[in-house]
Amino acid sequence: MQHQIEATDGLDEVVAATTKLSSVDGQAGELIIAGCRLEQLADRPFEEVVERLWRAAGVTLERPRTRALPPRTVDLLAAAANEHADPMDALRMGIGSLLSRNDAADALTLVGSCPTLAAAYYRLLRGLEPVTPRQEFGLAENYLYMLTGTEPDAARVQALDTYLTTVCDHGFNASTFTARVIVSTGADFVSAATGAVGALKGPLHGGAPGPALDTVFEIERKERAEPCLRAKLDKGERLMGFGHRIYKVRDPRASVLNAAAARLFESSSDSSIYELARYVESTALQLLEEYKPDRHLKTNVEFFTALLLHGLGIETTFFTPTFAVGRVAGWTAHCFEQRAVGRLIRPQSRYVGERPAGSEGARVRSA
Ligand code: ACO
Repeated sequence: MQHQIEATDGLDEVVAATTKLSSVDGQAGELIIAGCRLEQLADRPFEEVVERLWRAAGVTLERPRTRALPPRTVDLLAAAANEHADPMDALRMGIGSLLSRNDAADALTLVGSCPTLAAAYYRLLRGLEPVTPRQEFGLAENYLYMLTGTEPDAARVQALDTYLTTVCDHGFNASTFTARVIVSTGADFVSAATGAVGALKGPLHGGAPGPALDTVFEIERKERAEPCLRAKLDKGERLMGFGHRIYKVRDPRASVLNAAAARLFESSSDSSIYELARYVESTALQLLEEYKPDRHLKTNVEFFTALLLHGLGIETTFFTPTFAVGRVAGWTAHCFEQRAVGRLIRPQSRYVGERPAGSEGARVRSA
């Protein structure tokens, strides 16, 4: 008889691997990345954090630098822009067009190419020529430079470094798990990152910050916050930017990004959207407590991602590609870790469909 293991939809309680890359404590609201608390790393340049992640995965590599794209990739992005393809589809195509050489080279290529891919597509969609990265710039500085074609000021670079570091790794989230499953088959890191981008696209993972900001825009004025949010909850809709599978207290990334967003908006001439968003957040938290009292739904990383990236002038449709620019660091580090494990990830499923008459399962079930 087939051994019956209980099936768990969503794998909530399943520990699928050990990792030295990040620890997510959902009860204490603590995130450790490669041995440091997120708060200790949040002001560091992103490339330094990437190196640290790779070292934690047992690999010492040169510091990643922004890469120019091969002509075939630019042509592909231009064709996608002609059809107004979704930016995450374009990123998936762009990453998929990179050639794999070996694990170390692929990790450097992936981390170095994601900012260029996202920025090039941003410009191509607007009928602008892509901007070539500058060798003297770090990844965050180059990303902002390649988006706009102008040198960003230090405050904006710092805000983006904080964002990229904050989202660089987060345990066995869906896109990271996807990458590890792909590498566990013996496939290359480029294939893993291509699959991971697909997983990140979904609104329950990386696709939430755009809708979170849309809600703030839709609310428009403080007095509309409560009726708008109530209407959504009455219709059974989820409030984007709230709730998390692991965190049952405030997501520590939300606090770090809130502080970064506050600094960024302080230095800008108009902080009205920041103030409105904070009001929407507090109203949403009150209503979630009222509607779902046992669920402990708190602000997640996506809510302040939306505000910070908006403050940096990045358009909503490029929030998720920008998330990928940061998370690709974690994907590659997990790929190294998985390679060292060297075991195929292959869980089981429990068949609950029809069985042919007389099969062993049918006899057991009717017994
Ligand atoms: N708004 C309203 N209700 C919610 C929300 C929300 N944001 N999140 C969860 N709930 C409710 C569900 O409706 C459900 O209620 P019920 O049991 O009465 O039917 C209950 O809380 C539990 O929901 P689940 O889907 O089982 O919880 P899960 O752990 O799977 O959810 C998730 C996590 C997917 C992030 C969820 O909170 C959600 O959909 N949030 C909105 C989307 C979002 O912000 N995504 C970004 C997450 S952060 C990241 O991935 C980087």
